[in-house]
Amino acid sequence: MAMNLLHRWLCASRLWRGHMRDDVLPWALDGIDLGAATLEIGPGYGANIPTLLGRTSRLTALEIDEELAARLRERAGDAVTVIGGDGAAMSLPDAEFTAVVCFTMLHHVPTTALQDALFAEAFRVLRPGGVFAGSDGRPSAGFALIHLGDTYNPVRPDGLPARLAAAGFTDIAVDIRGPNQRFRARKR
Ligand SMILES: C[S@@+](CC[C@H](N)C(=O)[O-])C[C@H]1O[C@@H](n2cnc3c(N)ncnc32)[C@H](O)[C@@H]1O
Repeated sequence: MAMNLLHRWLCASRLWRGHMRDDVLPWALDGIDLGAATLEIGPGYGANIPTLLGRTSRLTALEIDEELAARLRERAGDAVTVIGGDGAAMSLPDAEFTAVVCFTMLHHVPTTALQDALFAEAFRVLRPGGVFAGSDGRPSAGFALIHLGDTYNPVRPDGLPARLAAAGFTDIAVDIRGPNQRFRARKR
């Protein structure tokens, strides 16, 4: 995965953390009980970690970029287990988590097949009754523009329910708000 410089700066900024904390996450996680053991796929600079720690007792963060994983491991301390790895091929056991979440990262997974593999992996590592939830931008010219020279494979919200169902999920909902989409789905 590559992030261009503008993108790196934005993701690491206080502005971005505030936007995620105050605007996106309250909407993306509205009404969702994460339960005791949550996995965040693609934590990046860790913008969402304080919010998630307020809603779950055990947080694991899986990051494909080894540099970012190391940075996060140093800063997050003992509260979070940071693992380097790919959400589309996780080295995590089956049925380990009560919730799997990912924010602003699906568009960085370069192919539809890999995104579908990530959905299947999220399903595999969830306990029965567990929830998969998250948010991302919708495809748009503006979203494409900030990804110049960067991986950009945004998920189409109208196709997402069928893709989540194909991974095994039920109780699927996808909602749009402005430039963003949120999804939630359950492992029965
Ligand atoms: C744009 S950043 C978003 C970071 C954070 N989720 C946020 O909302 O601020 C996308 C992150 O997802 C990570 N990522 C991309 N593909 C991944 C994959 N297959 N598995 C795990 N992490 C991945 C990237 O390395 C990057 O840190």
